[in-house]
Amino acid sequence: MYIKVPKGTQDVLPENISKWYYIEGMIKEILNKYGYNEIRTPYFEYTDLFVRGIGESTDIVNKEMFTFPDRKGRSLTLRPEGTAPVVRAYLENRMDRISKVIKLFYLGPMFRCEKPQAGRFRQFTQFGIEIIGTKSSAADAEVILTVLEVYKKLGLKNIETVINSVGCKKCRANYIQKLKKYLKIKKDFLCSECKERYLKNPLRALDCKKESCKGIIEDAPIITENLCPECELHFAEVKSYLNSQKIIFHENPRLVRGLDYYTKTAFEFISGGLGAQNAIGGGGRYDDLVEELGGKPTPAVGFAAGLERMIIAIDQQKIEWPRGKGLDVFVAQVNEKNKDTVFKLLQEIRNNGLSADMDYSGGSLKSQMRMANKIEARYTIIVGEEELSKNMVILRNMQTKEQKELKIDNLINELS
Ligand code: HAM
Repeated sequence: MYIKVPKGTQDVLPENISKWYYIEGMIKEILNKYGYNEIRTPYFEYTDLFVRGIGESTDIVNKEMFTFPDRKGRSLTLRPEGTAPVVRAYLENRMDRISKVIKLFYLGPMFRCEKPQAGRFRQFTQFGIEIIGTKSSAADAEVILTVLEVYKKLGLKNIETVINSVGCKKCRANYIQKLKKYLKIKKDFLCSECKERYLKNPLRALDCKKESCKGIIEDAPIITENLCPECELHFAEVKSYLNSQKIIFHENPRLVRGLDYYTKTAFEFISGGLGAQNAIGGGGRYDDLVEELGGKPTPAVGFAAGLERMIIAIDQQKIEWPRGKGLDVFVAQVNEKNKDTVFKLLQEIRNNGLSADMDYSGGSLKSQMRMANKIEARYTIIVGEEELSKNMVILRNMQTKEQKELKIDNLINELS
């Protein structure tokens, strides 16, 4: 019995890698245009960063982290998300000294020990952006516009933009009191999880998917009707920026998201047809996180999207992937005794900046030609006995199927 890939993880096989290169390239191109610089943080951090950053009562911290001790017993955790690590790096590297506002992006694996299902993995890839150092509502709108541009350039349709405001420390505290008062009366009818949420984090009850809770939540006090004037103005400005760019969005006062650091704007992008795991990205403002992690008060806003879900959505919407760049030249040998010449030729082609390969299994010419076709080589060079005696080879254009004899010395010129 061979060992299988761990539950909730997957291999990206060579036949699929061009999809990843394409999406990653597109993301980087657009983020560059918007002025983001890439940051790469470690795949694991001290556990405390996530406990303090994401919030003790969240599902992520409570049940989804891959946590393990190092040899000295310090608790480490595979990063379940990128925002807390980016803020840690921002503080540790005193990035506030570089510029008042910093725009960062990241792209890489995240780890959550969730129950795997379609579109939900234990190792998944996020691209994320963070703007740290501004409370401007234009930054919130810019984050949304940036993400929508990525989706649009990839050809994705039916992406619903859902927004909400979860208020600030002050107005949210008042709202939570109201919500608790309301939930207290209905407590006996809440699901067991929401009964616990009622005590620890009542806001999370707002997006409970259980039918029993949905009905109760429908009549609950609405957060956007309980915002302080500052949060209300901020939310109105964000919506006005989006309207000015003709962005269609939907307001959902029950959108609270699964991380505790959000303040004011929260948003999510939903892709129709993805099933239960239909959130193709999400984010929001987190004005208190820098301070909570030891810095001075610094407002910030950001977003992250799962690349696997984006790929699933592209496939589901039958959007054609651009063709991967095949090999430039495949070198086929008629007789193995010419392998030294073939080896030299291969290297010469590569030294001239073209990609080239051969079949090391020593198969027949027919099977070598099959391989050249399979790997979508542009040209095949056939090194035959008779031609070689004249210092020549056969060059076959794999698309037009045209063949001609060519002096080896002229080969590179002809191919470039
Ligand atoms: P999040 O909503 O937890 O936000 O994750 C963002 C996106 O990552 C989701 O919308 C989804 O596309 C993808 N994702 C999450 N979990 C999984 C999973 N188990 N399998 C596959 N894909 C998944 C955050 O992580 C925040 N850090 C976003 C943010 C950045 N907020 C402010 N700045």
